[in-house]
Amino acid sequence: MTMYKTLKDFDFTGKRVIVRVDFNVPLKEGKVDNDKRIRSALPTINYLHEHEAKIILMSHLGRPKGKIVDELRMDPVAERLSELTGKKVTKLDDCVGEDVEKAVKGMAQEEIILLENLRFHAEEKENDDAFAQKLSRLADIYINDAFGAMHRAHASVEAITKHLPSGAGLLVEKELEMLSKVDDPERPFYAILGGLKVSDKIKVIDNLLKKVDKLFIGGAMMCTFGLAKGYEMGKSVIEPDKVGLAKELMKNEKLILPTDTVTGESLTEEAKAETYGFDKVPKDRACLDVGPETVKSWKGLLNDAKTIIWNGPLGLSEVPQFAEGTNEIARFLADSSATIIIGGGDSAAAIDKLGLADKVTHVSTGGGASLEYLEGKTLPGIAALEKG
Ligand code: ADP
Ligand code: 3PG
Ligand code: MG
Repeated sequence: MTMYKTLKDFDFTGKRVIVRVDFNVPLKEGKVDNDKRIRSALPTINYLHEHEAKIILMSHLGRPKGKIVDELRMDPVAERLSELTGKKVTKLDDCVGEDVEKAVKGMAQEEIILLENLRFHAEEKENDDAFAQKLSRLADIYINDAFGAMHRAHASVEAITKHLPSGAGLLVEKELEMLSKVDDPERPFYAILGGLKVSDKIKVIDNLLKKVDKLFIGGAMMCTFGLAKGYEMGKSVIEPDKVGLAKELMKNEKLILPTDTVTGESLTEEAKAETYGFDKVPKDRACLDVGPETVKSWKGLLNDAKTIIWNGPLGLSEVPQFAEGTNEIARFLADSSATIIIGGGDSAAAIDKLGLADKVTHVSTGGGASLEYLEGKTLPGIAALEKG
């Protein structure tokens, strides 16, 4: 039973609706490199159009830290959204203020307005109430369809619900329905964790270890654990202040680290790939993927799984010579008959690129959000909708 309002609870006719979406998509050379998160918002956008609402969309993109970063403007997203909807998408140069209010007042019925990156304002992450109020002035109704940002208690996710009638969009409903399939998972139940957001993701490991039968660590996360083991990690991406926590977590026998790693001299397309034992990484190289021996052994260990969750690429998957671990595990999961839930913008992009997204149970648009859900936490965005 849902405790929050959904689209069918509102009369949208002639109303201005501000929709929080998660358009935090990977970019490459100024273009959207994977549009899954944009496509996932289309059902809600189409519903609102059909019900004669005026649509104002808002999202964050990357982590600009409260300042304008030109590379993180929403223009490429607006372009892709216009292609996908066949509608005029007007991208504004800010998300609050007089000019924005004027543009919104004069908007046409069929037009979609996309506000500029919310995180150009520090108040967004600070969950600032005055900032949320400014956003709320732009519309009559607030809809949150940003499942990927539901774990962030930010102004456009949390504080804004105090100022407008609020509800959840269709993507949020669908995500919660799919993720609830692992509320009581069939066992053996395994998790594979990778990616770069080590300080975020390491926090969920403790709770995940209580739920899963094995937890496999790859991605940049493995390097902090490698250091905790006392191995040389060379030029790898490390979070030194998390080494202590990694040491503590490693005492749990369910936690599985790679035995070999593909390394590069830099984190670039030009880097030359060389494979080493995980405990034999040279000082001048960085661990950029799990190695072939690791992949083989993990496939063996994963073979009896009934449920697997995977979050975060196992290596620098944007660069072909460091994408093999990620791709091999993705192919394995696509072939598996277990319930497979994949989460994370970059993991989703990786499986999408292989054309295998429809071979698994669910590919979530949420990275941190799906992890915190699976960890058993109430997501702040959902809690805010329930209160409203
Ligand atoms: P997701 O979006 O799936 O939740 P993250 O955002 O946490 O995942 O991390 C994805 C990023 O992590 C990708 O850009 C990938 O290249 C990077 N990455 C993975 N492993 C490594 C590594 N060993 N070193 C550096 N970057 C890595
Ligand atoms: C994501 O990519 O997981 C979401 O868009 C949230 O981004 P964040 O980790 O920068 O808050
Ligand atoms: Mg990501």
